[in-house]
Amino acid sequence: MNTPDTIAFLSGQFLPLSEARISPLDRGFLFGDAVYEVIPVYNGNPFLYHEHFARLDRSLREMSIPNPHTAGEWSHIVRTLIQKNGGGDLSLYLQVSRGVEAVRNHAMPAQCHPTVFLMAQALPKIDPSLFSDGAKAVTTEDLRWHRCDIKSTNLLANAMAKTVAVQHGALEALLIRDNHLSEGSSSSTLIVKNNRVIAPEYTRELLPGTTRNLLVDLAQEAQISVQFKPISVAELMAADEIFIGFATRGVVPITRLNDQPIGTGKPGPVFKALRQRFDEKRLTPVDY
Ligand code: PDD
Repeated sequence: MNTPDTIAFLSGQFLPLSEARISPLDRGFLFGDAVYEVIPVYNGNPFLYHEHFARLDRSLREMSIPNPHTAGEWSHIVRTLIQKNGGGDLSLYLQVSRGVEAVRNHAMPAQCHPTVFLMAQALPKIDPSLFSDGAKAVTTEDLRWHRCDIKSTNLLANAMAKTVAVQHGALEALLIRDNHLSEGSSSSTLIVKNNRVIAPEYTRELLPGTTRNLLVDLAQEAQISVQFKPISVAELMAADEIFIGFATRGVVPITRLNDQPIGTGKPGPVFKALRQRFDEKRLTPVDY
């Protein structure tokens, strides 16, 4: 699946993406008043489906946007979209905005009719050297708001951070607030020190990641201890391993940060153990 004109879903209808039209008065367009999910599909099976929909539910609740579909309706939409786009490996983008208003008005209306939009894209091809050699990352200031636990479409600061990464030839920008790591611009970040996996606690400053949660479960299954605590920049730079987790690429080791090697400068043993378990899980379909 790599044709640009894929089949999308917009508020009740499946249609070619090039024909999808959204009003400029949609609050998602005017105010970024919308939440989203990115769900990977492997061999036609959505991965971590229930975890993504649980997070969508939470984001909607936190924004007081009513969930426009029942679980059964969502599963029908996702199933049909995958099938209409030929199955295989896809990245599903799903967005729910508060919908259209007659006039532009900052205050959120008491009643709304959410706009629902889904599209399917090809999953990014992963260069095998990402796993054998690892990727580069840079640190940059976390300029985001204080509700990063909501997966909202307000991604300007994330986009700026990712652009800094690209300008440095890096895959990801690791966001630093008050001298501490929050997460990547579009990924969760975990480190390893003395065989222990460490990740920042969940607060309003970072997103609960579906990939990160699975990696934590897999580490515990593998008897690797896991600790949740703040990670300073000094601890980040002195980590034995760093890896990032996100729906579009799974788990990726970071072996150079700000042009300095991390640990041995090669993907480490904890990454390798978790990646193997992750890959087994990734290929196990679930009911939805
Ligand atoms: N981003 N943190 C941020 C800020 C993210 O944007 C993402 C995912 C994650 C990882 O969450 P998950 O493991 O559930 O994908 C953490 C998606 C991929 C995106 O915006 O494209």
